[in-house]
Amino acid sequence: MKGIQPSSTLNVLGLAKELERHGKKVIHMEVGEPDFDTPTHIKKAAEEALARGMTKYTSSLGMPELREAIAEHLKTKGIDTEMKNVIVTPGAKHAIFCAMAAALDPGDEVVIPSPCWTYEAMVRIVGGKPVFVKTARKNGFKLEVEEVQKVLTPKTKMLLLNYPNNPTGAVMEGDELRPIVDLAVDRKLWVISDEIYDSLVYKGKHASLLSFPEMVGRTVYINGFSKVYSMTGWRLGYAVAPAELVAEMNKIQQASTSCPASFVQSAGVAALRGPQDFTEKMRREFQKRRDEIVKGLNSIDGVDCPKPGGAFYVFPSIEKLNIPSLEFCEVLLRKADVAAVPGSGFGPYGEGHVRFSYATSMENIKEVVKKIKEVVGDLRTRK
Ligand SMILES: Cc1ncc(COP(=O)(O)O)c(C=O)c1O
Repeated sequence: MKGIQPSSTLNVLGLAKELERHGKKVIHMEVGEPDFDTPTHIKKAAEEALARGMTKYTSSLGMPELREAIAEHLKTKGIDTEMKNVIVTPGAKHAIFCAMAAALDPGDEVVIPSPCWTYEAMVRIVGGKPVFVKTARKNGFKLEVEEVQKVLTPKTKMLLLNYPNNPTGAVMEGDELRPIVDLAVDRKLWVISDEIYDSLVYKGKHASLLSFPEMVGRTVYINGFSKVYSMTGWRLGYAVAPAELVAEMNKIQQASTSCPASFVQSAGVAALRGPQDFTEKMRREFQKRRDEIVKGLNSIDGVDCPKPGGAFYVFPSIEKLNIPSLEFCEVLLRKADVAAVPGSGFGPYGEGHVRFSYATSMENIKEVVKKIKEVVGDLRTRK
């Protein structure tokens, strides 16, 4: 465990909370959660479930009603699956963890495109070896198959895909995924496809890995309720995988958490079976905020912010400022009370960037841009 770095997002959050404890008013641009409340009908479903006495363990795979609702919901996205392929977990994070623990042997290599979210720690905890490949800003941070080919060894067991991407917001379309699909089939790789931001796409058309029939037997599809229904604190996610792997993941769930909370699962059924307009409203609002923050950041000398296609993060380059991203975020927090995550927290190819979540009010976004402009102005005159 000594070799595993703590989550930089949670580290920044911790420092920001400490400043708040001392009376500072921090604008939180670091956390990865929508600022909308969970829709009322979902909260009501949880209350009703509690009132009905839904207070006991469920099947460790998750409640059959929920697994069925997930399979049906996925059909609306063009994904053809069945309840036997679905396992429900306390958060998508745990689903990824179960999949890695089930599929990897010690020393197996997992190819991770970087900048990337917190997968490295998970791979290391289960005894695997993360192998990073670079995705580049000039290419919209999309994964190029040649980069993956360069790092393949006989030990390569798994490829990790996350589109729409955290932190870059990159979206991969069907034709862009094609060469990667061919490679995964050819090299018999497992692919974990974390598609948790699939309903927050602004540009281009997200393609699910499960829309490729040849990938069905080698994909662990990950999704959840945190982002799409603004339910981060409820801890509810799921995986779709071949039934044999689901059985192994289930053993890990049985040995670790038993099952997600029962009344939370009831709320999950209500989320999937109820009205879906909430997500579209949120998506439209995020799109306006994205446009505002991209415009604002690009008006700052030395900051270069590409317009992301999905999720709710921007990942501007601060390379021209010649300052390590961690130091930049520390200055931003201490001098301007703005919390953001240094690019160095997103694998070996994140340095030179900063991640801002725009899941915050338009007012905050405008204020933050002003504050960053001041901090950057100070930094440039100091040099
Ligand atoms: C790419 C990605 N996958 C998974 C998760 C975790 O989701 P959950 O809250 O369902 O564990 C996050 C949360 O930030 C994320 O950004």
